[in-house]
Amino acid sequence: MSALDEQPRAAAAAVPRPAPPLALLAELSHRCPLQCPYCSNPLELERGSGELDTATWQRVLSEAAALGVLQVHFSGGEPTVRPDLPALIRHAGAVGLYSNLITSGILRHDLRFGELVEAGLEHVQLSIQDADPRNGDRIAGLPGAQAKKLAFAAEVRDAGLPLTINAVVHRQNLESLPEMIELAVRLGAGRLEVAHVQYYGWALINRDALLPTREQLDRATAAVAASRERLKGVMVIDYVVPDYYAKRPKSCMGGWGRQFLNISPAGKVLPCHAAEQLPGFVFPSVKESSLASIWYEAEAFNRFRGTAWMPEPCQSCERREIDWGGCRCQAFALTGDAARTDPACALSPDHHLLDVARQQASEPASHFVYRRIGGAPARPLSPATGGQP
Ligand code: SF4
Ligand code: FES
Repeated sequence: MSALDEQPRAAAAAVPRPAPPLALLAELSHRCPLQCPYCSNPLELERGSGELDTATWQRVLSEAAALGVLQVHFSGGEPTVRPDLPALIRHAGAVGLYSNLITSGILRHDLRFGELVEAGLEHVQLSIQDADPRNGDRIAGLPGAQAKKLAFAAEVRDAGLPLTINAVVHRQNLESLPEMIELAVRLGAGRLEVAHVQYYGWALINRDALLPTREQLDRATAAVAASRERLKGVMVIDYVVPDYYAKRPKSCMGGWGRQFLNISPAGKVLPCHAAEQLPGFVFPSVKESSLASIWYEAEAFNRFRGTAWMPEPCQSCERREIDWGGCRCQAFALTGDAARTDPACALSPDHHLLDVARQQASEPASHFVYRRIGGAPARPLSPATGGQP
């Protein structure tokens, strides 16, 4: 029996009953016009034919509100590929959920943004890949993507909706972080989330091409500090040092099964968007169980709740209820065991694995491996081609 198999029984007696979840990430579809090399969705993407139907999503939104959820984040893939998105936003509003759209800004061709506003959408998070359109399009794997994103941001601003820009940063765009900050200001964003790549799912395949150098990271951190000072009252910048250069891990998702629910396009309920890749778990489906029974009773949610499941050094660490032992998905991606201390922690016996990864990434930038739903990876695009396939 593996250590993971032994965990459920060991932890079951000491699992605390959680508070209701605060937010639901509704992954409406894995379909997406972009092919970002850092995508953290699972390697096996769900096809459109396997997605939940409208009535089921509406029932789930009602159940989420009854459970105590306050916010729903419509995400994907690209959530606007779903023709029923306006109906889902309208239903979320009717049951009292604050609705946020997390989008690439490349909308389905026959969807008007105004339809989402009329349906009651309250907030938009728009991803950008770079400030430079040529590199942005190359990273997104879609020529013309940046121009569409800028036009979409103007629509959000004209509609008067609050806008957050999401910038995933890595080795092949980090030098232009100051320009990305300026672009977010120009687009009228009230918040900029500068997020370093999380290396699981497809992103792990591209880790050597994405992991920044220490020098890049130091310059970026200084640029954020200076911009935060200069932009006080104009735009908030969220920024956390990446795990691969950290001494202590992040409190991933605020702790496993403590604050967030994630529902996959096919209806699986997960504690985080990347958990589906973890072996030895049965993640329940909204097709078979209520959201409340899954949140409070599912073994997959209870397995890493509280502190009883933790190994040493977490078990006797004073930070165990601050970072909750770090990220389970990162522990699995790096060690093959989701129940180990996150190697991002300098106290972890596996911390040296990050030294190895950083060493590998000190070679010249390598090509991206792009993904396509339902097909083989697209052929690698070189930085020298400017993203033209
Ligand atoms: Fe967090 Fe565990 Fe590291 Fe302590 S030992 S800082 S609880 S990951
Ligand atoms: Fe799954 Fe961190 S992403 S626990």
